[in-house]
Amino acid sequence: MEDKLIELNNLVMSCKKCRLGVKRTNVVFGEGNPNSKIMFIGEGPGEEEDRTGRPFVGKAGQLLTKMIEAINLKREDVYIANIVKCRPPNNRVPFDDEADICINYLRKQVAIIKPKIIVCLGATAARHIIDKNIRITKDRGNWVKKGDFLIMPTYHPSALLRDPSKKKEAWEDFKKIRDVKLI
Ligand code: SF4
Ligand code: URA
Repeated sequence: MEDKLIELNNLVMSCKKCRLGVKRTNVVFGEGNPNSKIMFIGEGPGEEEDRTGRPFVGKAGQLLTKMIEAINLKREDVYIANIVKCRPPNNRVPFDDEADICINYLRKQVAIIKPKIIVCLGATAARHIIDKNIRITKDRGNWVKKGDFLIMPTYHPSALLRDPSKKKEAWEDFKKIRDVKLI
């Protein structure tokens, strides 16, 4: 199982299938436990992620790590990735054509890891994974069942940093994730 993920990682490292491949410093493939029952999916790499090649290592990432620990998991026990694997200029939202190309890699990661739960962090992940018309403020906190997966849309940690009053709702969502029997 892990071999397939390494093989895919090697392939994506040289990807130039969309315009985001032009200006990136590093591809941010994703990281974590390939046997994890839970995957956290963000939008795309920011500055720190582009510099290091690792997902969610900036300020939002530090908050995500704390939230993962708050539901009794360790960051290295879960798998963390993004909708697009190269940084959009000035952290703009990825365009649909970019996301539509790059999400094929994420689909392959999901097929290899076979998580039970997929957490969509923010509107970009939720729109591309659940439904393009999803509204995160309205639809967050409600499980979506798709195939074998239980999907939870919730706020992006960056949104929680911008507006800490949203943290209470995010914690409600994370408690629902915590309470799912993972075996
Ligand atoms: Fe390839 Fe995805 Fe990077 Fe675009 S964002 S160049 S599709 S890896
Ligand atoms: N924001 C994201 O959506 N993904 C990261 O990896 C970092 C910040």
